[in-house]
Formats: sequence, structure tokens, C-alpha cells
Amino acid sequence: MKKILITGGAGFMGSNMIRYLLRQYPEYCIVNVDKLTYAGNLNNLKDIADDPRYRFYQADIIDSKFIDDLFHREQFDYVLNYAAETHVDRSIMDPDAFLYTDIIGTFTLLEAVKKYGVERMVQISTDEVFGSTLDGAFTEVSPFQPNSPYSASKAGADHLCRAYFVTYQVPVIMTHSCNFYGPYQYPEKFLPLFITNLLEDKKVPIYGDGKYVREWIYTEDHCRAIDLVLHQGRVGEVYNIGTGYRQENLSVTKLLLELLDKDQSYIEFIKDRPGHDRRYAIDATKLRNELGWVPMFSFEQGLEAKVRWYQQNTSWWKELKSGAYEAYYRQQYHERLSS
Ligand code: NAD
Ligand code: DAU
Repeated sequence: MKKILITGGAGFMGSNMIRYLLRQYPEYCIVNVDKLTYAGNLNNLKDIADDPRYRFYQADIIDSKFIDDLFHREQFDYVLNYAAETHVDRSIMDPDAFLYTDIIGTFTLLEAVKKYGVERMVQISTDEVFGSTLDGAFTEVSPFQPNSPYSASKAGADHLCRAYFVTYQVPVIMTHSCNFYGPYQYPEKFLPLFITNLLEDKKVPIYGDGKYVREWIYTEDHCRAIDLVLHQGRVGEVYNIGTGYRQENLSVTKLLLELLDKDQSYIEFIKDRPGHDRRYAIDATKLRNELGWVPMFSFEQGLEAKVRWYQQNTSWWKELKSGAYEAYYRQQYHERLSS
């Protein structure tokens, strides 16, 4: 029996991980702490909400009093920190929350892990901390060169994790992952935005020339990687998580048009994202050699599965693409579309 704290468990990847762990480890107990920002959604967890092995608290990870009381009461074995502000465009418009949640929130958790002798903490971080590379791939020792307030705040959190391991021997492991995709992804990100726009018979807004490259990992493959890192990874180490499936945004868009039976007139090129990273690429040799991880989903399989999920779960995303979302979308795209 292990008790795991998952922060940000009502978000995209956190909710996928909770479902994965309950399935894989019938004897585990999961506590989910989530502030329920615009990105947190309890509908992501409807199917497991009544599972006696699962509990939810609505709280902010920067609330040190709440976090201290919780750790004191629950005596966690493991902590998985998924909670973060995650959308690059929002970080450019309004960076404050990124600094608080991504840096101070991680600090608050590290303090509690230190004080209450938690066995292991995994910090879910991103390839964006390395900045952009035009050739080759980032390894675990590539220098940090973040280019957006989002990636800078994630880099800050990673530095703190490293420092807490070196200075206090806090048993933290850091992961740097490429772009996730799969079910329950909030429709502001590239893939779910484009899929849902096409399902609504709307155009898709490509930033700049569309030749920006991202590396993609399907949700299930990422859950398996975190499972291995949590149980078999070495504390104080960093693991890159990547598949090698690198694609230009424009090529991915053309695949989506094919899958959804639309022609190229649905593509709209718009003004670029400021500071837009040209290319991400991850070298995950360490994860493969040390922990034996390999992806199970090809990019095409994952993309098709993702498209089908959004086709079959229209009420889930239609509810999200209304109200506050509309205001965000208008603010985000108005200036870019009109220039
Ligand atoms: P998401 O935006 O879908 O969900 C984030 C969750 O964190 C939400 O449920 C939100 O309510 C919660 N949250 C935000 N601030 C909080 C706070 N102060 N206290 C408690 N909860 C709070 O995120 P995601 O895309 O699933 O990403 C999860 C993690 O993985 C993040 O740390 C992100 O940086 C990292 N990551 C994401 C990707 C990707 O492609 N999405 C890739 C690499 C790493
Ligand atoms: O690389 C990992 C990161 O991937 C995570 O750490 C972030 O949390 C996550 O948001 C994601 O960041 P990106 O900036 O890569 O993802 P996004 O979905 O915002 O954009 C993917 C690419 O698509 C990027 O080159 C910008 C482009 N894009 C995005 C949107 C929303 C468009 O062309 N049009 C759009 O409308």
C-alpha cells in the first residue's frame, strides 16, 4: 500500500495519471490537490470520483499552511507534482500566476517533502527549459535557455529541485518531457484547439510559417514513463522523456485535415507567437537504457485515437469552449487575425 499525492490532478495529464495509477496499482491510495483554475476540471475524473482509493481537495499548492497540515495528516509515500500554469501564450499575456504556482508552489512542496520524510517526489517538467535547438536533441545536461515566462518559471522550479537534493538530500527526481497529447487536453493547446475547431467547421490558426517543430508523446506512454521513473528512477537524477516523433505544425495540421475530411482552405496563417521556439527535440536514451521505456503508440496511432476521443466527447469540450474561454480566445486571436 502506498499513498500518493498528485498535484494538479484535475488537469489534462494529472487526471490521465490518476486513472492510470488506480488501474495499475489496486492497492494504492491517491490524494489529488488542485486549485481548479480554468484548466482544472473535475469532469476529467467523473469515472473514478467515487473510487474509495481516491480523494480530492480543492487547494492552492502555494498555501503553505494547507500543504503542511495535509502532509502532517496524510504521511505520503510519494508526491507527483503536475500542478502548474502551462500555456505559453497565457504566460506571455499575464505571467504572474506562472511565477507563483510554478516556482513558489514547487518550493512549498519541496519544504513539505523535506519536513515529512516523503520517500520520493517527481517533478514533471518540460523540454521548453532548454530553449530551442535547430539540430540535434537536448540531453539531460543541456544548458537551460528558457524563452518564455512559462519555461523560465518551470526552469526556476527545476533549479530549486536540484538544490533541495544537493543541499538537503530531498529525494526528488526531475523529468523533462516533450509535448503531451491525448484525451482531456484543454482546447487552448494546438492539437485540441485545431481538432475542435475543425469539428465545429471553423478554420485553424497557424502561427507564423507553421514550420515550428514539436516532439509528441501520447498520454498513456507518458504515464508509463512517470510510473518507471517514480518506482525505479534514481533520486537526484534527471530523465528526459521523448519519443523521437518530431513534426512540423503544418504537417500535423495536414494530417488532421485528412483525418477529419477537410481541405486546406481551413488553414489560416496568423501573426507569430513572440519568442516562439523554433524546434524542440529530446534525447531520451537514458530513460530507454536505464529504465527500459519505449513508446507503445506511433504518432499516427496516437493522433487518430485523440481525434476519435474528441469526436466522441463533444459535450466535454463544448462546455469548455464557452464563457470565459470565448473571452480568452477573442483576446488571444483578435490582434493576430487582424494583422
Ligand atoms: P494543465 O494546464 O492541463 O493542468 C494543470 C493543473 O494544475 C490544472 O488542473 C490546474 O487547476 C492545476 N493548478 C494550477 N495552479 C495550481 C495551484 N496553484 N495549486 C494547485 N493546482 C493548480 O497541465 P498539463 O498540460 O496536464 O501539464 C501538467 C504538467 O506537465 C505541468 O507541470 C506542465 O508544466 C508539465 N508538462 C506539460 C506538457 C504538455 O505538453 N502539456 C509537456 C511537458 C511538461
Ligand atoms: O514542449 C512541452 C510543452 O508543450 C509544455 O511544457 C507546455 O505546457 C505545453 O503547452 C506545450 O507548449 P507548446 O508551446 O509547444 O504548445 P502549444 O500547444 O501552445 O503549441 C504547439 C505549437 O503549435 C507551437 O509551435 C505553437 C503552435 N500553435 C499553437 C496554437 C495554440 C499554433 O500554430 N496555433 C495555435 O493556435
